Amino acid sequence: MTRDLALAIPPALVDRLRSARSVAALTGAGVSAESGVPTFRDAQTGLWAKFDPTELATPSAFARNPKFVWDWYAWRRELLAGARPNAGHLALAALERRVARFHLITQNVDGLHQAAGSSDVIELHGSIGRIRCSRGCGTVARWAVAQGDLPPRCAGCGAFLRPDVVWFEEMLPPDALAAAEDAARHCDVLLVIGTAAEVYPAAALPRSARACGATVVEINPQPTALSDAVDHVLRGPSGVVLPALVAAAWPATSLS
Ligand code: OAD
Repeated sequence: MTRDLALAIPPALVDRLRSARSVAALTGAGVSAESGVPTFRDAQTGLWAKFDPTELATPSAFARNPKFVWDWYAWRRELLAGARPNAGHLALAALERRVARFHLITQNVDGLHQAAGSSDVIELHGSIGRIRCSRGCGTVARWAVAQGDLPPRCAGCGAFLRPDVVWFEEMLPPDALAAAEDAARHCDVLLVIGTAAEVYPAAALPRSARACGATVVEINPQPTALSDAVDHVLRGPSGVVLPALVAAAWPATSLS
């Protein structure tokens, strides 16, 4: 399988990647699918096929029923407890060691890029590993197993603590968004991996990169809203395609 894909990788893309001074990657839920983490929009298996996001991932849902929302994120944390980085995460960490400048922009909250060894990950949608004050008093903490009534209360102001993730109707963290936009505008190659490219502003980054001259590559087993607006499409799971791509550009690379 890897061998076939390596043959299918366009030589022009291999050359461009190898000579790139700056590479960026934008990842979505699909990059973690082979680690057993469910995506959002895949039919039947995606979280939004089973759960209503307006009841679980909005500030008004949390205001209406904080325990319900807290418990759902606690359940997602349990799902993640056994998840390990897959070959796609490891290939991105190996790629970072090969290029002069590398920026990893993720919409994922699962921490698997960091677990694979990627550094300076730009988390556009926050992290399920942290909690913060729902009133915005500035309290941020690691999510530990809480005792007593849930959600726990902020020690600073007494409001409920909430997952430190971005919900629908909320702004992205300004520093993360600015860093992602800067990386997209200044890279030579942008890899867009495992995202349906339907949620903005993240979905705008590939077009912004291309408008600034980057070669944009989609890695996804399925067509997306972005597929017609990229330079190369590599159809396949990222756990197979990414190691093949890195091996094609740097044949001696170890992914471990
Ligand atoms: P989606 O669930 O919308 O899209 C996942 C993409 O991954 C789809 O295009 C799949 O075809 C692809 N995919 C599935 N398996 C794959 C594999 N093995 N390798 C590569 N790709 C694979 O997830 P996102 O685009 O990440 O936001 O969703 C964006 C945001 O919407 C999420 O961050 C989340 C969600 O609502 C919030 O919660 C704020």
